[in-house]
Amino acid sequence: MIEVAPADVGRYAGVRDQAEAAVRRLSGVSGVTAVLTAHGEGAQAPKTPAAQARPHSQGIPGVKAIIAVASGKGGVGKSTVAVNLALALTRLGKRVGLMDADIYGPSVPQLLGLTGRPQSKDGKILEPMQRHGLKAMSIGLLLSRDAPAVWRGPVATGALNQLLTQVAWGELDVLLIDMPPGTGDIHLSVAQRVALAGAVIVSTPQDIALLDARRGIAMFRKVEVPILGIVENMSTYICPNCGHEEHLFGHGGARATAAELGTPFLGEIPLHLSIREGSDEGTPVTITAPDSPQAKAFMAVAERVAAQLEAGPVNKPAPRIVFV
Ligand SMILES: Nc1ncnc2c1ncn2[C@@H]1O[C@H](COP(=O)(O)OP(=O)(O)O)[C@@H](O)[C@H]1O
Ligand SMILES: [Mg+2]
Repeated sequence: MIEVAPADVGRYAGVRDQAEAAVRRLSGVSGVTAVLTAHGEGAQAPKTPAAQARPHSQGIPGVKAIIAVASGKGGVGKSTVAVNLALALTRLGKRVGLMDADIYGPSVPQLLGLTGRPQSKDGKILEPMQRHGLKAMSIGLLLSRDAPAVWRGPVATGALNQLLTQVAWGELDVLLIDMPPGTGDIHLSVAQRVALAGAVIVSTPQDIALLDARRGIAMFRKVEVPILGIVENMSTYICPNCGHEEHLFGHGGARATAAELGTPFLGEIPLHLSIREGSDEGTPVTITAPDSPQAKAFMAVAERVAAQLEAGPVNKPAPRIVFV
């Protein structure tokens, strides 16, 4: 185990690679992933002004905070929340990037109405696309439209590393990463390659989705990524015709789970036709109907996330290397 100061994490990427190579050479070892992660009590960085001003990320210069938007389960509206949260943060005056790490089912291009291919000035580093004041990048922009990304783990994580290291994001206050569902290789890779400021967990109010959300939270806690909070999506159904409210999937489950797990509750997003239509048309509701209750719900989540970022790194721990 090697404990170093948080600012030095980037310097230890080579050590991690060497550690992996050394373990791989042992007989009987079929695969190894060394994770450079953080260690809790006793190794906390002092909260000096210099420490607070220091960018949190490793390997993405100019990006102040990287946040993973995750869920244990697919189809709970993670990408919808990621896109609208990103846009809501731009409306709060933040410089925001959105990276689509769902390399098996990228949906950011559709949600933002992005077409065409990202440009590269030098043939290596990709320029992010720009939309609604947001910078965005997705593996979906690099693959042909109908090509499914049927990749083995190492190829998939290779593509992800490329997205993390070869995009000219420029100066950003926040980079949101739309994660694939579940708790697999990609999650481990993201947690390993970049110092996440935290994770936002999206869940519907149902027990089964919350069970998956708990799994997601447990995974981030294991790699010592702070949980910024839970968003309850599809919380209340609001009839677009009469405004009547109905709790189709139950209500309040995420708030109760957040309280039980000791994580912040970030807010409820209603189930509303305009959210689905905006997603399908590439015109998210946060932009097209900023005064609607739906857009306000996303703004409220963004305000809570922004407040947490402004409060600074919460006792950002020093990293250590663990084998999994
Ligand atoms: N709050 C909501 N109201 C209405 N439709 C929603 C809402 N959240 C998500 N959807 C729709 O549900 C489907 C799944 O959402 P998506 O964001 O792709 O989920 P995930 O990224 O978790 O797989 C999409 O068709 C999306 O438009
Ligand atoms: Mg998605």
